[in-house]
Amino acid sequence: MEFEQLISAATRARATALAPYSHFPVGAALQTRAGKIYTGCNIESSSYGLTMCAERVALFKALSDGERQFSAIAIAAAVDRFCPPCGACRQVLWDFARDITVILLSLSSERKILKMTDLFPHAFDDGFLIHD
Ligand code: THU
Repeated sequence: MEFEQLISAATRARATALAPYSHFPVGAALQTRAGKIYTGCNIESSSYGLTMCAERVALFKALSDGERQFSAIAIAAAVDRFCPPCGACRQVLWDFARDITVILLSLSSERKILKMTDLFPHAFDDGFLIHD
């Protein structure tokens, strides 16, 4: 089935989460248009506000590797609900990956497939900024 590899990468990434404060591990897997997969897990700091979500870890790993074109992201939390990206992740995903496919995974392996525009309508982005 489509997205199988991406889904298992997100689920595996969840196992490496560093979430001792929230006990809410999350895994994400971001696919480039060329088919490469970058994974991320949430990483919590003892200064809670410095915590980084799984989605942004995956995205920043890919961006720092020079990747610029993306097609989909899968997100796996350890709850039997579909865990959507937080507001901060939606903004950054929109900034760098635009209208990619978003696959939300429940613990019982159900999936919900959305587009970023479903999750983040009326987005702010660089189109509003004045450039020389
Ligand atoms: N978290 C993510 O990694 N991704 C999400 O989509 C939602 C929230 C993390 C941040 C924090 O480590 C924990 O989940 C609880 O908010």
